[in-house]
Amino acid sequence: VSWRYSIHSNARVARDGAYGFADQLSLAGERAARAAIGACPVYRPTPLRRLDHAARDAGVHRVWYKDEANRFGLGSFKALGGAYAVAQLLAESVSARLGRSVPIAELAGKTHVSLTGAVTVACASDGNHGRSVAAGARLFGCRCVIFLHGGVSPGRAQAISELGAQVVRTPGVYDDSVRLASETCDREGWILVSDTAGDGGAAGRSTPLAVMQGYAVLAAEVLEQLDAQGEAPPTHVILQGGVGGLAAAMVAHFWEALGPSGRPTFIVVEPERADCLLQSAIAGDPRLASSADLDTVMAGLACGEVSRVAWPIVQAGVRYFMTVEDAATVAAMRVLAATPDGQITAGESGAAGLAALLALTADRAHEPRPADLTESSRVLLIGTEGATDPVIYGRLIEAANETAEARG
Ligand SMILES: Cc1ncc(COP(=O)(O)O)c(C=O)c1O
Repeated sequence: VSWRYSIHSNARVARDGAYGFADQLSLAGERAARAAIGACPVYRPTPLRRLDHAARDAGVHRVWYKDEANRFGLGSFKALGGAYAVAQLLAESVSARLGRSVPIAELAGKTHVSLTGAVTVACASDGNHGRSVAAGARLFGCRCVIFLHGGVSPGRAQAISELGAQVVRTPGVYDDSVRLASETCDREGWILVSDTAGDGGAAGRSTPLAVMQGYAVLAAEVLEQLDAQGEAPPTHVILQGGVGGLAAAMVAHFWEALGPSGRPTFIVVEPERADCLLQSAIAGDPRLASSADLDTVMAGLACGEVSRVAWPIVQAGVRYFMTVEDAATVAAMRVLAATPDGQITAGESGAAGLAALLALTADRAHEPRPADLTESSRVLLIGTEGATDPVIYGRLIEAANETAEARG
């Protein structure tokens, strides 16, 4: 396996400042999201797994793995964001129609299907966000259209159709599907449930913020789970970067909850060919990924443009930006599937955090160690997805096993 990586140290990171983005993402916002999400009868915190073998291999004190594979039975952490934003938007729409404030809990009872049934929600997706939005639409009784570019696998499209959403295939890459979804919503009067923001005005920012506020629930769970075990918060958090929504939500929550000195060192990891956050960090301003094709096995991270609403928080909070090769995440999937710490199913984007840690620590003789890692580091990985496309997952794990067997 090639553990080749590139890393950029972000000179613009806020070194000591207090958290300054509470008007966008906040602990109060997370509590509101948790109240709504937690009211769902099937809500459970996802497991926080301790990977002692991985910690030994990496030469750090602890490795924690927040395993989002079974979040709401939807396969990824994205289940926390899109469905929550659908609920919020429908509550607003129904409140406006009825002339009184309608809480989300009232929508779940389907008492307002005659109103919600007339609404269409839509978004573009690499697969996981669309699945979350489709699940929300089904739960709350509205129509749903999901725009998928040609690179989204048939398995991921099928999972969305099975939730009752209409799938529209679009030309180009992910960012083209984002634009088409937005234009179609404007034309048809549909509600756009985007997980990313372009450089438009405030109207385009509030929904991605709601999505991200839903993601923050997983950060709150991690801190509670560590506390319940008498464990200290992480010193390092490795975050997969697509448009930067997950990264911003995690940075915001840990920074506000733990304060400027207690917050961890954040590391964003992206695929080599979909490195828009790394490029933006180098430039100090939003930039496109370095290659236009966004060709990577890490489908959830195949984004060429950063979310404008996530970016300021990411730039202020993330210390290191790095990329890994596709082969590294496939190797990490295989490590997780067969780890002595317990078999873990991690999809291509879900394993990228471990891929980054293994890449950073592959050369144990490297001094100083990269990303300020030491033997007392406590590293949190977010297992952002399980086998969201079981066919691709099986093929990648099997190919890795065959290569291992061939080598003897
Ligand atoms: C499995 C998985 N991990 C990580 C991400 C990255 O999230 P974001 O695009 O908010 O940066 C995504 C995005 O779709 C994803 O599907």
